[in-house]
Amino acid sequence: MNSKIAINGFFGRMGQSIYNLSKKNKFNVTVGCDKKEKISQESEILLLSDLSSNPESFDVVIDFTLPEPSIDAVKICESLSKPITIGTTGFNKNQKEYLLSASKNIPLLLAPNMSLGVNATLKSISELSKLLPNYEISIEETHHKNKIDSPSGTALKIAEVVAESRDIKPADINIKSYREDGEIGVHKTIFKSDDDEIIIYHNAYNREIFALGALETSQWIAKQKPGFYTYQNYMEDGS
Ligand SMILES: NC(=O)c1ccc[n+]([C@@H]2O[C@H](COP(=O)([O-])OP(=O)(O)OC[C@H]3O[C@@H](n4cnc5c(N)ncnc54)[C@H](O)[C@@H]3O)[C@@H](O)[C@H]2O)c1
Repeated sequence: MNSKIAINGFFGRMGQSIYNLSKKNKFNVTVGCDKKEKISQESEILLLSDLSSNPESFDVVIDFTLPEPSIDAVKICESLSKPITIGTTGFNKNQKEYLLSASKNIPLLLAPNMSLGVNATLKSISELSKLLPNYEISIEETHHKNKIDSPSGTALKIAEVVAESRDIKPADINIKSYREDGEIGVHKTIFKSDDDEIIIYHNAYNREIFALGALETSQWIAKQKPGFYTYQNYMEDGS
């Protein structure tokens, strides 16, 4: 049976993209949660400004908000013993530590990028980082002007993958961030030697690629034991 989904950040760009895609597919979104002032808007589903006010109406939470409201949603999930899949980016060190500790009590998936395409390229990036130890690696990302965090969560994730593969620190990798009207998300990982250059390039044409990942991981995380999961764990499980 499909797990009933609550979307936190319902009236945001991602919240609406996830809801619209759910209606075209087999997913069952039953609750939209957002800030009080937005809840007056019309919707076909139950709208809440506090997820704890109607816990019976959903089984799993998808969160695309901001770090602080996201942490609040995790606290509510902990108190209700509900799983959560988080797409929000920009968490600081303390907030990440809190997410890790909360995952001892609930299944929690954190993915700074929910698209299959980007997550598949992470594997190639890891492999190339090892195969080409003398190549200099840098990252460039371009997003729309309303994006709050910089560098993007995806660029930071790429840096983390490179650092792990080369046994260096993510901060050692140069990241350039650009903000341009209309760009949903472009990431370039550049491997450069004196003689040649390889670029792993991902360009998101629309938000549906992230929305699909959020919906699919929500159904997967609802079946997991408490713990900390990434999109890689979901992908490797073959779901
Ligand atoms: N993981 C991914 O694949 C992926 C893809 C795109 C965006 N993102 C990230 O998702 C987040 C949201 O992006 P967006 O473009 O949809 O932003 P947005 O600003 O369009 O939407 C955020 C929504 O959260 C709501 N919100 C704020 N405070 C809230 C609260 N206390 N309770 C409930 N809702 C609250 C806002 O009212 C808004 O509707 C960002 O961190 C962004 O970087 C991740």
